[in-house]
Amino acid sequence: MKNILVTGGCGFIGTNFVRLLLREQDYNVINLDALTYAGNLENLKEVEDNPRYRFVRGRIEDAELVSTIMKEVDAVVNFAAESHVDRSIKSARPFIVTNVLGTQVLLDCFRKAGCKGPFLHVSTDEVYGSLSEDDPPFTESNHLLPNSPYSASKASADLLCRAAWKTFGLPVVITRCSNNYGPFQFPEKLIPLMIINCLEGRSLPIYGDGQNIRDWIYVEDHCRGVLAALEKGTSGSIYNLGGNCELTNLEVVETILRLLKRPRDLIEFVTDRPGHDRRYAMDIHHAQKELSWKPEIDFETGMERTVRWYLDNRKWWKRILSGQYRSYYEEHYGKEL
Ligand code: NAD
Ligand code: TYD
Repeated sequence: MKNILVTGGCGFIGTNFVRLLLREQDYNVINLDALTYAGNLENLKEVEDNPRYRFVRGRIEDAELVSTIMKEVDAVVNFAAESHVDRSIKSARPFIVTNVLGTQVLLDCFRKAGCKGPFLHVSTDEVYGSLSEDDPPFTESNHLLPNSPYSASKASADLLCRAAWKTFGLPVVITRCSNNYGPFQFPEKLIPLMIINCLEGRSLPIYGDGQNIRDWIYVEDHCRGVLAALEKGTSGSIYNLGGNCELTNLEVVETILRLLKRPRDLIEFVTDRPGHDRRYAMDIHHAQKELSWKPEIDFETGMERTVRWYLDNRKWWKRILSGQYRSYYEEHYGKEL
């Protein structure tokens, strides 16, 4: 049995990962989360009383707190991050503090406590920058060419992880995944935003021409990939994870309209995001071969489950809509929520 520190366990992917660990594995889990706007304690209410689970509220850049926790821990899975590109464009600072400084504090405390490892750092395809339509998908040896403050902060963290592996021999493993969707995703991201706007009869704001391409992966597939990398990954290695599912944003929104039987005229093309990456696509052969992992859930099945979850959990997202998210939405989209 291993003691694992999961950071950011009250966010979207962290929640799904903690639930997976407690449901199917025998790890003891400490969840360190600052409960920012994106963290929600309610997500893990069902596991609160599990004797293998403990929640600690705190920040990953708090060296004193983190060094105390590391004494009890074998391995780390670092999900904690500021994760939204649009917010990073408005203000980069929190991204530097959490994603860059926070990751370095975790690495330092992990090393000083002599943790066995691994230290699994959860990263993103966005560190590679943007592809044009005829480029081959990203491989792990692509250069890092991040275009947003968010992706630049994630790339910086990846490099600090690499440096800790090279300099101190820390057992660091990095996963880079494409766009996730599924239960518990905060409504600021494309898929939950569009589902909720459909349900509320609001317009669906598509940036630019809607032809930007993302590779979509169901969150449970990502979590299983992270677990596989934790258990089978080689120190110093990077594993691309993705869903083999490239779609334009317009195609994604059309799927949601079809599943919810809503009219196409809800779509509204709005001003493009500055520096908007055109296309992401992942070559996942390395992870398939080394980790015996592949995504299992196709987009149609994943989207049916996701839409069903938002239909069944109105209270969850209504509470978010009535909180501080309202002012973000109204300022960003220039519309009432
Ligand atoms: P999220 O924004 O939903 O959750 C982030 C969590 O981290 C929240 O619970 C928040 O409270 C916590 N947190 C933020 N700052 C913290 C700090 N300083 N200390 C402790 N906790 C803090 O994010 P997500 O979508 O679940 O993403 C999780 C990770 O996966 C991130 O590292 C992100 O970069 C990466 N990732 C996300 C995607 C995606 O599509 N969402 C794709 C690839 C990689
Ligand atoms: P997002 O979910 O923010 O993820 P990321 O920017 O990290 O890929 O956005 C996914 C895509 O959807 C991206 O191309 C931007 C686009 N998008 C819109 O068109 N409208 C929106 O309101 C949002 C939030 C995103």
